[in-house]
Amino acid sequence: MDGGNRSVVSEFLLLGLTSSWKMQIFLFLFFTIFYVASMLENLLIVLTIISDHHLHSPMYFLLANLSFTDTGVSSIATPKMIYDLFRKCEVISLKGCITQMFFIHTVGGTEMVLLTVMAYDRYVAICKPLHYLTVMSLRMCIFLLAVAWTIGLTHSVAQLAFVVNLPICSSNKMDSFYCDFHRFIKLACTDAYRLEFLVTANSGFISMGTFFILIVSYIFVLATVRKHSSGGSSKALSTLSAHITVVVFFFGPCIIVYVWPFPTLPIDKYLAIFDVLITSFMNSIIYTFRNKEMKVAMRRLF
Ligand SMILES: *[C@@H]1O[C@H](CO)[C@@H](O)[C@H](O)[C@H]1NC(C)=O
Repeated sequence: MDGGNRSVVSEFLLLGLTSSWKMQIFLFLFFTIFYVASMLENLLIVLTIISDHHLHSPMYFLLANLSFTDTGVSSIATPKMIYDLFRKCEVISLKGCITQMFFIHTVGGTEMVLLTVMAYDRYVAICKPLHYLTVMSLRMCIFLLAVAWTIGLTHSVAQLAFVVNLPICSSNKMDSFYCDFHRFIKLACTDAYRLEFLVTANSGFISMGTFFILIVSYIFVLATVRKHSSGGSSKALSTLSAHITVVVFFFGPCIIVYVWPFPTLPIDKYLAIFDVLITSFMNSIIYTFRNKEMKVAMRRLF
């Protein structure tokens, strides 16, 4: 347990969110319900969009991809957490921990870029409507999706490369319900200040960067909508407010968890619940129940 010892840690103890068993039962139910609902919702969206040719447009293809990514986001940490609460034992192997960090950042990074791509799609549709079909062609959509996954993967690997061989010796207790870089680094024997800086800079760059691009594109779109206030603008505004709600839900907790410049807040493991579970549930609710065409298409599907 001493600082200089290079003991090999092969398992981590996740301290979870609470130690009271009443709260654990509550969390078990809460996570199970949200997880199942979120998976069903998102798969329903993908199914509806793929099977309904009225919805074969860039906006809906991107939405289907977002829902698909959301099923990934909520499946990385949640099922394990539910299972751990059930068997009352929260351990994760070193390999499992690294796998979790890899997927969380790959899929999370991809989702951030995907939200930006969706905002760009709305920007073109509203600000350059005459060029919409030529700009957002199928090839362009596929290209942007490839860019999103490449950025997500690079973002994840760039952090993982530095932590994968860190010697762990101070402790194997992780005060969270899943593995993440900043908590992992805290357990290293070496002085991890520079690594922490690197991780904060990397995750901070991608979350603040995409958030900034999103805000700027929304300002452009809002300005255009205000200028040509006509029949279409209320529809544009409702789509846009759905986007903004999703973005705030997704980026708010992310930015607090990763970019907060002070020591790890005790509250951030609760905020992480938003990113690993609630946002993907909210996305599907917001996009379907605020969108008339989606509702009609779902009715047709049944
Ligand atoms: C993602 O988008 C592409 C191209 O826009 C589309 O062909 C594909 O079906 C979408 N994927 C999902 C899972 O909806």
